[in-house]
Amino acid sequence: MGTGKVFLVGAGPGDPGLLTVRARDLIAAAEVVVYDRLVSEEVLAHIPTGASLINVGKAAGFHPIPQHEINETLLNLALAGRDVVRLKGGDPLIFARGGEEAAFLARAGVEVEIIPGITAAQGGAASLGIPLTQRGVTRNLRYITGQCRSEDDIASYDWPSLADPDSTLCIYMGAATIARFAGRLMAAGRSPSTPVAAIAQATRPGQVSLTTTLEKLASDMGQSGLSAPVMFIIGEVVHFAAIHPDIAHDQISSPVVAAAE
Ligand SMILES: C[S@@+](CC[C@H](N)C(=O)[O-])C[C@H]1O[C@@H](n2cnc3c(N)ncnc32)[C@H](O)[C@@H]1O
Repeated sequence: MGTGKVFLVGAGPGDPGLLTVRARDLIAAAEVVVYDRLVSEEVLAHIPTGASLINVGKAAGFHPIPQHEINETLLNLALAGRDVVRLKGGDPLIFARGGEEAAFLARAGVEVEIIPGITAAQGGAASLGIPLTQRGVTRNLRYITGQCRSEDDIASYDWPSLADPDSTLCIYMGAATIARFAGRLMAAGRSPSTPVAAIAQATRPGQVSLTTTLEKLASDMGQSGLSAPVMFIIGEVVHFAAIHPDIAHDQISSPVVAAAE
């Protein structure tokens, strides 16, 4: 029996309608699926009955299966001749350690195919109609991890650059650190009135969101009860939200009107 192939598949933010056609077809034909905590129940429901399901889900600060064991699991399945659908929330190469898994397998001689997914920033933004970039408003778009081990870790970010008023910041894994991030951004010069959207469970049946400002973000998050996974979108683009969030806060001023060219 030959070596199997590993398909590193992006499951998107939750709504199965946001799967790529390739991802949907691979899931529908899967015999072995190794999946993460962030893959939604709605996507898992598309796995055929009879497929082997291996949950290697990880939560912040709680890693039931270490990464090296996940790598070994994928390798052993492939060496046993099994084709494996390795399913990860969002995009498999954005804050998902997919690059490590792909490199490990490739070094071991296992064929890997990567199927991109819609990342949480895109899914969350689209759900509220927030354009992540807006002509004349945004010059850059950053995907940032909010997961920091220490104050030194937080201090090592390039805060003056992140405080650039022309940038949109999308913060992943930031639920525990967002108050410190907001403080650092304001200390580095980002305006306290900068609009922010926080979107929990984006594109899932339980989606909840709030819009606020940088200076009120910490207290509004504390009162909101929003629970992980949460995506934070910080920047003037939030003014352009085309769809009203579930929790409408009135701290945000009237939308900026972009000059037509
Ligand atoms: C380990 S990262 C995985 C990111 C994923 N690979 C992606 O491309 O979206 C986990 C973080 O992604 C964000 N996230 C993932 N799915 C989400 C969702 N449905 N709603 C809001 N945030 C989500 C949260 O910030 C969460 O803490």
